[in-house]
Amino acid sequence: MIIAIASDHSGVILKKEIATYIHETFQYEVIDCGPKTADVSVDYPDYAAKVATHIQKQTADLGIVICGTGIGISIAANKHTGIRCALCHDCFSARVTREHNNSNMLAMGARVIGSDLAKDIVQHFLVASFEGDRHQKRIDKITVIEQAQLVIKP
Ligand code: RB5
Repeated sequence: MIIAIASDHSGVILKKEIATYIHETFQYEVIDCGPKTADVSVDYPDYAAKVATHIQKQTADLGIVICGTGIGISIAANKHTGIRCALCHDCFSARVTREHNNSNMLAMGARVIGSDLAKDIVQHFLVASFEGDRHQKRIDKITVIEQAQLVIKP
């Protein structure tokens, strides 16, 4: 399993902790898409795009993105075709969004939760798997909306 991870400046410290946690706990490969330091203000859409591209190109299986609230970076990620990015600040949502929504990205807010809870959320997200069946039908409807948007693009 390969996990791509990125943040904006406000999520750099948590991003590094999560990357280490994933590598040490699951022995998964972690691709850190940056930024390297927190001392330069960066724009979260740029970093959402880096992780989304890995998912789209299948160079990573799942993505994790972190900003201050998790909101901006999740909104940005969800603008990319085929991305289902879930903003989760509890373990139940992290598990169920994999099981029901087949989410391929997880967003969290570094200014909202502490690192221990963030690690638990990541653990639930990574361990859970998509249940398919009736949930696939609903995801297919989301894909139809997404494809229609592509068609009407000038
Ligand atoms: C950056 O200051 C902050 O706006 C960003 O991290 C995020 O919270 C946006 O949704």
